[in-house]
Amino acid sequence: MNPMLLSIENVSKVFSSSGRRVAALDNVSLTIAAGETLGLVGASGSGKSTLSRILLRLLSADAGAIRFEGEDWLALSGAPLRRKRARMQMVFQDPLAAFNPLATVAMVLDDPLRIHELVPRERRGGEIAMLLDRVGLPADFASRPVRALSGGQRQRVAIARAIATRPSLLVLDEAASALDVTVRGRILELLVDLQKERGIACLFISHDLAVVRAVSHRIAVIDGGRIVETGPAAAVIAAPQSDAGRALVAAVPRLMTEAL
Ligand SMILES: Nc1ncnc2c1ncn2[C@@H]1O[C@H](COP(=O)(O)OP(=O)(O)O)[C@@H](O)[C@H]1O
Ligand SMILES: [Mg+2]
Repeated sequence: MNPMLLSIENVSKVFSSSGRRVAALDNVSLTIAAGETLGLVGASGSGKSTLSRILLRLLSADAGAIRFEGEDWLALSGAPLRRKRARMQMVFQDPLAAFNPLATVAMVLDDPLRIHELVPRERRGGEIAMLLDRVGLPADFASRPVRALSGGQRQRVAIARAIATRPSLLVLDEAASALDVTVRGRILELLVDLQKERGIACLFISHDLAVVRAVSHRIAVIDGGRIVETGPAAAVIAAPQSDAGRALVAAVPRLMTEAL
């Protein structure tokens, strides 16, 4: 039995645009255990979103393999892939932006419950109220249009939608980056609570090491499409081993003293 929930093995991706080749990912390997939060941190353009898009099967890899819950994730297609998608959910920077502006919170949350046939129709209203409660929003938010919500409230709805299908893994790509500091802190607390309570593993992606540190058990640093170091969060912050890791720590000077 493979104890790893997710293992990414030697994944590579090259983009060609206007005659230039960009190696967005170069032999990336990472693992995430059940219930673990792995922080992936790197400067803008280092390949983070390319990896999240490959993981979510929105983009194909040129090479490499991904195992998820014991299956060959990149080989899945059709109905088995659709079923398995319930187990790996995503939260991006503004995930609700893609919705019809007239959509209500209830519509956004009903979608995954209906598509994945998780809850019979007559119980969906109750399930939506439970999901809202879990992310700290009042039940009467169900009837509000999504566009009437603040950034923090929208992100709570996005998290509720992501956990609706009872995933084992959440992929969060700059999920807290657009929020102001106070709201961001509360969203990170919510994620840590959910992660403990439900045992959901997270791949938490950000360019900001201070944010990554607040939620991660382990941290991987990516630079120019390569993983340049991986270790326990406290160790990477106290003594980064790579140039990119040192630069990220130096960008948040407060971290240096707190770690001493
Ligand atoms: N669709 C694409 N076509 C061409 N180049 C791309 C495309 N997507 C990403 N890239 C390039 O791949 C590299 C990694 O991008 P990305 O994964 O978005 O980085 P990050 O999320 O860390 O900021 C960058 O050099 C970016 O310009
Ligand atoms: Mg990105």
